[in-house]
Amino acid sequence: MTTERRHLLAVGDLTRDDAERILDTASALERSLDREMKKLPTLRGRLVVNLFYESSTRTLSSFELAAKRLSADTMVLRASGSSVDKGESLRDTALTLAAYDPDVIVIRHPHIGASQLVAAATDAHVINAGDGKHQHPTQALLDLHTIRDALGRLDGVTVAIVGDVLHSRVARSLVEALLLVGAEPLLIAPPTLLPRNVEALGAKVSHSIDPLADVDVVYVLRMQAERMEASYVPSLREYTALYGVTPDRVRPGQVVMHPGPMNRGVEIDPRVADSGASLVTTQVRSGLVVRMAVLYDLLTAPGLHVAPVPIMEVA
Ligand code: NCD
Repeated sequence: MTTERRHLLAVGDLTRDDAERILDTASALERSLDREMKKLPTLRGRLVVNLFYESSTRTLSSFELAAKRLSADTMVLRASGSSVDKGESLRDTALTLAAYDPDVIVIRHPHIGASQLVAAATDAHVINAGDGKHQHPTQALLDLHTIRDALGRLDGVTVAIVGDVLHSRVARSLVEALLLVGAEPLLIAPPTLLPRNVEALGAKVSHSIDPLADVDVVYVLRMQAERMEASYVPSLREYTALYGVTPDRVRPGQVVMHPGPMNRGVEIDPRVADSGASLVTTQVRSGLVVRMAVLYDLLTAPGLHVAPVPIMEVA
């Protein structure tokens, strides 16, 4: 993380060393969670505010639990039921929360750049938990952690990202993160569900699902109906027939991932989602330890190489 007051707003904020350090810390934390006493005192007295303007199950619950497992105080502010309902601007909401001196603000917002605005308006470390279709860096890190755990490496691993790339902050962040660590992303989607300048992302692209057979990891994206103003596919049935990840399209030895929430029977067949190849619940577990690692990393001195061992010793 390169900025002066460190934030995690986009995968581009990370060097390869940053990403690998965070994954190593996450692995060390994972081992510590095997104990009966799951709480570490590391962030005692720190305040983490979760500011969520969009619905979330996995991301919010894991940031909340991650902060608690490190003994930080936490607060959740959701858009509905807050003054946001009354039209308070994001900047005013951020300034109000800043009065409590939070160490970290985690923000999810439908508008691109919302996390930058909060970073500019407050003194807190800011983590982007999803801004529109732009970025979702902690999702990318937890996906790297899941792949590294399952396959034992990242360098040279081939990952097909299948589906609604156009509306997906997960796809954008994951492609960047995979390239950062030497893995090889392949985007598979109909032309209507790819961004116009897709080549700029740096991944290979296929409009046919056939190359799925050649990859190590099948990463399925959700059809993001809430971000589609027009009809991007003739029908969901046709989409499923051409691009749905069904048992006959997954070969033995491949692993399957999905960021959730899944549309079973649309982009992913339930038999695949529930098969031994599926890493979907592993991704949720990774989300917890990776978000603990990110909080830990942001709240320790900038540029300091943090060896994983001292975390255990504090406990
Ligand atoms: C994703 C999101 O909200 O960006 N979900 C998540 O964080 N696990 C993906 C999605 O909504 O499709």
